[in-house]
Amino acid sequence: MNIYAHRGNSGFFPENTMYAFKKSLDLGIYGIEIDVQKTKDGILVVHHDETLGRMFDGKGSIKKSTFEQLRELNLKDEELKNKADCKIPTLEEVLEFIKDTDLTLNIEIKNNKVRYKNIEKDILDIVKQYEMEDKVVISSFNYKSLKRISKLNSKVKTAYLVGPLTFKRRNLKKILKICKDCKCTYIHPSCDVVNKEFVAEAHKRGLLVQVYTVNSVTIMKKLIKLKVDGVFTNYPKIINTLVNG
Ligand code: G3P
Ligand code: MG
Repeated sequence: MNIYAHRGNSGFFPENTMYAFKKSLDLGIYGIEIDVQKTKDGILVVHHDETLGRMFDGKGSIKKSTFEQLRELNLKDEELKNKADCKIPTLEEVLEFIKDTDLTLNIEIKNNKVRYKNIEKDILDIVKQYEMEDKVVISSFNYKSLKRISKLNSKVKTAYLVGPLTFKRRNLKKILKICKDCKCTYIHPSCDVVNKEFVAEAHKRGLLVQVYTVNSVTIMKKLIKLKVDGVFTNYPKIINTLVNG
């Protein structure tokens, strides 16, 4: 079972920071999940929210900020705000860190609420430059982004993210058809939508099922019984111990 540290080891450390990624290194887990967006001046950065303010002492959006402006920001957390590894990282910094580890990197493209032109090509170019095409999985809630990825580079594995909203709008058959059309290797459902039928139908079509975001031991035990292929968790140490002892 593949265990990913969701947004890094984010239950205990500030999400999507190099600090949290480095704290995921010795856990014996499969990988790390990050969220990627693009700044006004075209730099790929790692941050979950499209707007600033929840974690960092800034205002406005990622899309309308320059990289220099983002890099000046500090975490709101008083204890951590002056730590060097607690700035908004670039995708390049994360690739540089991951490349010499055994970890797989799940790059989630945040291209659903706010659109970033050519973000797929920009990500693929940098992944290729680092010779990490076989070390990454690219996921998105936006299936058009996944289609673009598969057209641009057939080597990189992709995953369709399915949250409660997608599941409400489209039935399982349609969702699985999208995965086929986008040539996905994985389907990444929310733990709120996955069930026995979901896993069985996905497996029947050769898709691997990796579930987000699993932060409860009870849910994890249920997912082990369902024989899912992986999970994303904010508590990778606890979940990994439960799964692998
Ligand atoms: O990639 C799984 C998960 O991260 C998707 O949701 O909102 O946490 O990025 P979110
Ligand atoms: Mg994510």
